[in-house]
Amino acid sequence: MIDGLRRLEYRGYDSAGVALVAPGAPLSSAKKAGKLVNLVTELEENPLPPATAAIGHTRWATHGAPNDLNAHPHLADGGQLAVIHNGIVENFAVLKKELLADGVTFLSETDTEVAAHLLAKEHAATGDLTEAMRRVALRLEGTFTLLAVHADQPDTVVGARHDSPLVVGLGEGENFLGSDVAAFIAYTREALELDQDQIVTITADKVSVIDFAGEPVEPRRFTVDWDAEAAEKGGFASFMDKEIHDQPQAVGDTLLGRTDIDGRLILDDLRIDEAVLRSVDKIIVIACGTAAYAGHVAKYAIEHWCRIPVEVELAHEFRYRDPVVNEKTLVVAVTQSGETMDTLMAVRHAREQGAKVVSIVNTHGSTIPRESDAVLYTHAGPEIAVASTKAFLSQITAAYLLGLYLAQLRGNKFPDEIAEIFDDLKAMPAKIQEVIDRGGRVREIARWMSDTSSVLFLGRHVGFPVAMEGALKLKELAYIHAEGFAAGELKHGPIALIEPGQPVFVIVPSPRGRDSLHSKVISNIQEIRARGARTLVIAEDGDDAVLPFADEVFWVPQSPTLLAPLLTVVPLQIFACELATARGLDVDQPRNLAKSVTVE
Ligand code: F6R
Repeated sequence: MIDGLRRLEYRGYDSAGVALVAPGAPLSSAKKAGKLVNLVTELEENPLPPATAAIGHTRWATHGAPNDLNAHPHLADGGQLAVIHNGIVENFAVLKKELLADGVTFLSETDTEVAAHLLAKEHAATGDLTEAMRRVALRLEGTFTLLAVHADQPDTVVGARHDSPLVVGLGEGENFLGSDVAAFIAYTREALELDQDQIVTITADKVSVIDFAGEPVEPRRFTVDWDAEAAEKGGFASFMDKEIHDQPQAVGDTLLGRTDIDGRLILDDLRIDEAVLRSVDKIIVIACGTAAYAGHVAKYAIEHWCRIPVEVELAHEFRYRDPVVNEKTLVVAVTQSGETMDTLMAVRHAREQGAKVVSIVNTHGSTIPRESDAVLYTHAGPEIAVASTKAFLSQITAAYLLGLYLAQLRGNKFPDEIAEIFDDLKAMPAKIQEVIDRGGRVREIARWMSDTSSVLFLGRHVGFPVAMEGALKLKELAYIHAEGFAAGELKHGPIALIEPGQPVFVIVPSPRGRDSLHSKVISNIQEIRARGARTLVIAEDGDDAVLPFADEVFWVPQSPTLLAPLLTVVPLQIFACELATARGLDVDQPRNLAKSVTVE
């Protein structure tokens, strides 16, 4: 159980807990605030008895502070029933009132404890945990994955799923439930996808699934395409460092198998009628955080290649602003986890309005691809560090493939033009490797700057989302003020922030691209340098024009303008990772964050 929790801890690390059942024994449990290591220490000091079935949880707090009492599991039925929960029970206040009136005593401030007591009530009425869970699921509003064990059924774990992730792992003489396959990957790669609104009951040798109406259902089986080794640090100091180094392979793998023998793009997984794709008159990219910045980068390329207007919208804003979406709109949902609740809700809204949805997703067996019309998988492998790196690069790559495919289908580009861009893309993994190999100087500067209190990032064109991504990485990892600006916007206000010594990263576009773009950014560097900024410049090999205005230059190999983000973001990832490490922070699990944000 601890091993599984360790692999899932990246999803939330405010507290952790376990509950165990065994034949003829009372239920036993332990829980501790803080990271999993606190629970491990507690279990070493006070070991629990052997067990036949167990549930365990790592928490990202929503209702109630991250302390021992609010940690899961929550117990009911005199401590003989235990429940863990992901999501939010929105009607918990009403249900709590009802239970309080029944004389139930609550120990925590969580919404989850309501589910535990309701389950105990239904279990007492039915004598069966599966039926009790089904009845409770029908009463809960909001989002939930619930797992429960009861001392009376020591061979059984029951789960319920409503708009929150849950997958089944199929072992031999053992079965598993997890928020994602990482939980059981060390034991089996064979898995079952559950749908929304289903109840699953597992024993050591049986898995049965019913829907909320009680009807049996046949879940889809799949095999996970990575193994436990891919989810290990492999000698790196952190998962983030490892994942930065995984990037050449992540991009290369995302490009694999995408052309036929004539060199034409074939996106087999894009199962949307070609006539529909030809009639698309607008693309809306929906995503959050880093994935949204990947969407911003893609906008420049897709508009340029396909001449289709592309909007990029934060998923949580999209649904609430009554967006203009119809059958001619193609919505592209970008998400590493495939579980981000904001993005899932935006996907549903878009489809309700008649739009077709293509999702760009890294995690097989996750929810968003199942609810999309088509999916392009990125092949980045498991991303464990909370801060996204290799997923970002592979999302850009997959979005570019989509753009090129649309350009091919709609005749916006000649086949040889597409083949040329595809060849440029195929050259990127080696160039990304080169940027990583040159990372020593960035690390050195990051260590020198470990006590800096603010860093600004400037970029133009595709460099603009890269600047925002560089700032996000620094904020989330090092907890210092960081902001990304469009370089041209500086003079409209933010330049007032520049004072002597202010560090500013500037992402300089290729001098071989649109000429005015390069010279405008050089002017922007001069403007901030004149006001005392310390300029840290990311520029292409051979671009000597930057030298007079740069306090430091981080060189990247030459590449076409639109592909440059795959290179220019890498020094910024390394910078944030190294600076946070120098400040003594945990780069894999930054404070307050969770890897999969499965609440709205
Ligand atoms: C930042 C980061 C987040 C995620 C965002 C979306 O480093 O990881 O901003 O990009 O929460 O997550 P996914 O891609 O799983 O939808």
